[in-house]
Amino acid sequence: MNLIEVRGVTKTFATASEAVTPIENLDLTVVRGEFVVLMGPSGSGKTTLLHLLAGIDRPTAGTVRIGADEVSAMTPAALARWRTRGVGYVFQQYNLIPVLTAYENVEVPLLLLPLSRTRREQMVGTALAAVGLSDRAHHLPRQLSGGQQQRVAIARAIVTDPLLVVADEPTGNLDRAAATRTLELFRRLVDEFGKTLVMVTHDPQVAKAADRVVHLDKGRIVAEAPHA
Ligand SMILES: Nc1ncnc2c1ncn2[C@@H]1O[C@H](COP(=O)(O)OP(=O)(O)OP(=O)(O)O)[C@@H](O)[C@H]1O
Ligand SMILES: [Mg+2]
Repeated sequence: MNLIEVRGVTKTFATASEAVTPIENLDLTVVRGEFVVLMGPSGSGKTTLLHLLAGIDRPTAGTVRIGADEVSAMTPAALARWRTRGVGYVFQQYNLIPVLTAYENVEVPLLLLPLSRTRREQMVGTALAAVGLSDRAHHLPRQLSGGQQQRVAIARAIVTDPLLVVADEPTGNLDRAAATRTLELFRRLVDEFGKTLVMVTHDPQVAKAADRVVHLDKGRIVAEAPHA
């Protein structure tokens, strides 16, 4: 079953001096439970495409469907509601809130939902256990290593149990050992928890862990390979 269907998608940004089109007439299908890596030179449209998949931006033309939801047709308010449960986003710089503990950072998306405190505690506990950080729940981000901070960010991305997780160079700031551990965690999210994962990376080692590698250049898919 397809989880992601991108059809004829173009994204144009109008700047003061010119129009930029980072994604042009792009088609992409990702089946449920697939781990897809996006590669391509800087400026090729990788982050723009993740934003379109995650409903952070809307296409100028074409459709983006995630499961049963046509996210490209939603109003901004409906999109904001959909994002909370529909997708988890992992960033290169972790983007944790420095004054909140690991537990509180992971809880943030749940505060947007009508859940009891007890239910939130269960869900945060499950997410922190999934990333192997139950014993660091009350640490602040600065009291954690980079790899641990990224695992907290992954727990935050999965805490609402979305079908789709997208990650933009999530191992870009980590050393090889921490990157390997993070990648093993992502692989487990797909294999054990049934998540569908779309990850941007420049690292061929990371690409080897994926089910499929999609290469972008100037906003178009130039090659797809089962393995890098
Ligand atoms: N909000 C925006 N307004 C104007 N131009 C934008 C905007 N977002 C992206 N762009 C332009 O779109 C192009 C693609 O950007 P994008 O961030 O998708 O590239 P990328 O493949 O993620 O690159 P990198 O590997 O450096 O992260 C760039 O030329 C960028 O300047
Ligand atoms: Mg980018």
